[in-house]
Amino acid sequence: MSDIKIIKGVVAANCHPLGCKEQVRQQIKDVKNLPQINNAPKNVLVLGGSSGLGLASRISLAFGGRANTLNVSYERPPTESDTGTAGYHNNLAFQHFAKEEGLIAEDFIGDAFSLEMRTKVINYIRQNFGKIDCLVYSLATGIRPKPNGEGKWKSELKTIDSPFTGNFISFEPEMMLPVTLEPANNDEIEATVKVMGGEDWEEWVEVLKEADVLDTDFKTIAYSYIGSEVTYPVYFGGTLGKAKEHLHQTADLLDTKLSDINGHAYVAVCKAIVSKASVFIPGLSTYVLALMKELKERGEDETAIQHMHRIMQGYLYNPNGTPTDDQRLIRADNFELNPEVQNKIKEMIKNINSSNYKDPSVGDYEGYRKEFSQINGFEIEGVDYK
Ligand code: NAI
Repeated sequence: MSDIKIIKGVVAANCHPLGCKEQVRQQIKDVKNLPQINNAPKNVLVLGGSSGLGLASRISLAFGGRANTLNVSYERPPTESDTGTAGYHNNLAFQHFAKEEGLIAEDFIGDAFSLEMRTKVINYIRQNFGKIDCLVYSLATGIRPKPNGEGKWKSELKTIDSPFTGNFISFEPEMMLPVTLEPANNDEIEATVKVMGGEDWEEWVEVLKEADVLDTDFKTIAYSYIGSEVTYPVYFGGTLGKAKEHLHQTADLLDTKLSDINGHAYVAVCKAIVSKASVFIPGLSTYVLALMKELKERGEDETAIQHMHRIMQGYLYNPNGTPTDDQRLIRADNFELNPEVQNKIKEMIKNINSSNYKDPSVGDYEGYRKEFSQINGFEIEGVDYK
């Protein structure tokens, strides 16, 4: 097993299985030291639970609430010449630790958009859980197959009206360079909404409800990002934002549709986190360097597990009801959006450029780089890479 990580741009071509296992173990340890979820769900389906926010949600509910979990993710198993993806090893690690504690943990690897996967999941729920009382929807992908094999929708990372140039950070070769995003046409906007909007979430809930596998008081949650005026051109004001607006509307629609079983659907607006998906977004990387530095200095920087557990324990399963804003959104992005933090970020970003971006006095590049490395199982404390 090699301890050398192979990265192309912002894509990790390999991972370290032992590091992945240790990283999952540390998230479990961290969640056990946080306040537990008193009224946690019993049986949870996570779509996209092998990494990022989905994995942290799964760990929060299982080890901070003793829930059984079924996870669907799209990951590559190892072969003789390939380590496979980090998510694959995260799943194995999760199963190992969950089973040690007598929790049911099952993983289905495959396409969550397919009819076959829906059927497989429903059969599993019927046989093993009877019903589920929570669905976490945390898929992040660029492609969604159209029904009946009619091709694919492809999401586009573009602006809406005018071009925007933002800095993109590549880990290998290590450099920062400007990237211009062009405005999307209507077809591109529509395709992005199809891939990252709420339609598939709605279909999943409907199909599970029709199959009568949703318990009374069922809850479902999906994740959004709004950010601030700094990130607006590249995120909420762009194609991804259109998809997230659709996701927000879907939560309201589902909330109504679930009323007969006293069910609820929410979107949680999360903070920016370094993940396999988020490192691709130009403009966001320099913002995240500044954000991480500022939040760390204020003692308000949350890891993925701390953030998702706050959402589960403090919002979704808050015994006094789920606190939301006037748009019925869970606002876990409060530390990030604090005007003092945003003003500081605006000032810091003005000083970050391609020659100094690694300098700790301008932003937390080292933290950003290390977190990326860690999601692939490298640079994890306690692992003997030799
Ligand atoms: P991630 O890349 O770490 O995880 C994505 C998950 O989706 C993985 O488990 C992957 O296997 C799974 N997946 C992708 N395509 C699939 C398919 N066809 N079938 C089955 N599984 C599939 O992504 P991350 O960052 O955790 O994002 C999850 C959600 O959270 C997304 O909706 C994202 O927009 C949202 N979000 C992310 C933030 C961030 O800063 N990372 C901030 C706020 C929201």
